[in-house]
Amino acid sequence: MRQAGRYMADFRAYSDRIPFRERSETAEIAVELSLQPWRAFKPDGVIMFSDILTPLPALGIEFDVIKGKGPVIASPLRSREAVAALRPLADADAALPFIRPILTALRVEVGNASTVLGFVGTPWTLAAYAVEGKADKHCMATKTMMRRDPALLHSLLNHLTESLITYVVHQIDCGAQVVQLFDSWAHHLSPSQFAEFSMPYAERVIAGVRAVRPGTPLILHANGGTGKHGLLASTAADVVGLDWSTSMADARSTFGPSRTLAGNVDPMELFGGDAAIAAAVERCLLDADASGAARGRHILNVGHGVAQGTPEEAVALFCELARGSAAVLERGAGARVPASV
Ligand code: CP3
Repeated sequence: MRQAGRYMADFRAYSDRIPFRERSETAEIAVELSLQPWRAFKPDGVIMFSDILTPLPALGIEFDVIKGKGPVIASPLRSREAVAALRPLADADAALPFIRPILTALRVEVGNASTVLGFVGTPWTLAAYAVEGKADKHCMATKTMMRRDPALLHSLLNHLTESLITYVVHQIDCGAQVVQLFDSWAHHLSPSQFAEFSMPYAERVIAGVRAVRPGTPLILHANGGTGKHGLLASTAADVVGLDWSTSMADARSTFGPSRTLAGNVDPMELFGGDAAIAAAVERCLLDADASGAARGRHILNVGHGVAQGTPEEAVALFCELARGSAAVLERGAGARVPASV
């Protein structure tokens, strides 16, 4: 999540002079920005430089990313007329012509040395961005619509769901080997709201993609998802991404041994110095592996995006520790379970 970003000096050389939309929608620049963290840290996954809001203009929702403010949608979607006027994503190559060259070039550059990831926002998170127009602490406009005109919110969610199925399939056809769904605004929802307005639509995207591209692993990351793990345990996603508000051991006991879990070191640990980073990684690895004989699969990651100001050396150390994780587990397992297990 936000592998690239202003924490890297090489990235700032672009972000200081080229606006976000231009950077993410010009294939050569987006490829370069995707490859900067790959060259520097050699992670096991390379995520394309783009944004969850990138497909919105193709549907008729214009946005911009304003420095210091984040994404802004000038005309938030609040009426029946506005939702009815949305376009479907019929021809992704025509509507988002930069996606194919970005993913094609990344596959060539990365080869078999890493995995190229595509991504989308979930219908709920994109609907909430579209209705709010910007980040809102209370998600007030969307929650007002949720209670006063739920049918309107459901029709927006339906429209986004259909477009996102097309978009994810397109990313896969262009070269994405794994696709992550970000439910970044799940934290706004109570479990019952999540069960009605987010999870069923994310599951429809997953099922719609599976039906036509069954071999591509899908990751579902629900930010602030801890109170919803009981619901998330039934997701059809191959991988569940976790933020740091749960321990991997608790998550493992909820999700069971066969679900691959990704996460979940607090990105702020990367500010704590080498020893703190090593301790946080070790804790995460041993927690994730705590079930011993019933070892579940774990993708070591931070629990959210790398924050601006993070020392680049800290990210390098995190990746180095991830590569040495087998040794950590061996030591940890030796201490915890008999060798015969
Ligand atoms: O290379 C990569 O890391 C992949 C690129 C990536 C970006 N956004 C680029 C970006 C990814 C995976 C995202 C996902 C994204 N975008 C999410 C989901 C992940 C999460 O944080 O929960 C969300 C909610 C967004 C919406 C968004 N776009 C936000 C909150 C911001 C930050 C605003 C700011 O000014 O910091 C953006 C802009 C954005 N997208 C940036 C980057 C690197 C930072 C601004 C810039 O580079 O100009």
